[in-house]
Amino acid sequence: MKKFSSIEDIEAPEGLIKLALDQKSNPHELSQLGKNKTLGLLFFNPSLRTRMSTQKAAMNLGMDVIVMNLNSDSWTLEFEDGSTMNSESQEHIREAAAVISQYCDIIGVRTFPSFNDREEDYSEVVLNGFVKHASVPIISLESATRHPLQSLADMMTIEEHKVKKKPKIVLSWVPHPKALPQAVANSFVEWAKEGDFDLVITHPNGFELEGSITNGVEVVSDQAEAFKDADFIYAKNWSSYEDYGKIGEDLNDWMISPERMAITNQGKFMHCLPVRRNVVVHDDVIDSQNSLVIEQAENRIYAAQAVLIKMLNDEN
Ligand code: CP
Repeated sequence: MKKFSSIEDIEAPEGLIKLALDQKSNPHELSQLGKNKTLGLLFFNPSLRTRMSTQKAAMNLGMDVIVMNLNSDSWTLEFEDGSTMNSESQEHIREAAAVISQYCDIIGVRTFPSFNDREEDYSEVVLNGFVKHASVPIISLESATRHPLQSLADMMTIEEHKVKKKPKIVLSWVPHPKALPQAVANSFVEWAKEGDFDLVITHPNGFELEGSITNGVEVVSDQAEAFKDADFIYAKNWSSYEDYGKIGEDLNDWMISPERMAITNQGKFMHCLPVRRNVVVHDDVIDSQNSLVIEQAENRIYAAQAVLIKMLNDEN
């Protein structure tokens, strides 16, 4: 595997989920596979889970890891070909990606959207700059539009906790005071569409996700209606795709409450974290026995481990 940036990079998502679950049951089985190999983790944005879980995954495979916070610790990168770099940018992605490829055998990149220009964000200028100019495989650690490691961990978690063959999964928009990317929601929909699920999305008007991603998925605008008989509630805020980057106002009743969860089929609560308590989800829901948020975060280790194995073995 040369690139892990979305589900489209995977030949058999089910096989990757199984590999990740197998790694969870025997995390040190391949502790020599990555010997004398180095993983570079490049962060343009903050992270707790992605940074630590991917580092842990690499360590389980015997890899060395170099972590760099690019915005604070490195030169300001230029991504436009042919630009005259007489302003803020100090180093071009052409040299930066080529140089990092001399130090690292696999590179992970985290880069959030700017929210200045939807077309530019959805063209994945930063991630694709690394894909184009690095000579080693690239892993998305969450890009402007996708978070595939999170989705792989989420699919593992659902597989572990489902009690029926075709569970009902509801992706619910939730309130948030700041503009957040659509990346987690986009990826979750793409991965869930590949599984044997009854998938429903619920969101307020104006928060439709990109049409090619949600094509074929049922959308219910009434959250309470959507929650009926749900086995899993996946809560996530995203800012508007249509009115790009706009946040919701006066929509606090979309918070996941015990009353809403009571409508479900003893539904499990999921969220990728970090989460704002009592804004996104009531304490009594996230602290309940039906909350899977810590399991999701744990599974991030084995999701990353599965992807690293594929890359180290040069398999698809
Ligand atoms: N879920 C997730 O990606 O968490 P971090 O932003 O902390 O890495």
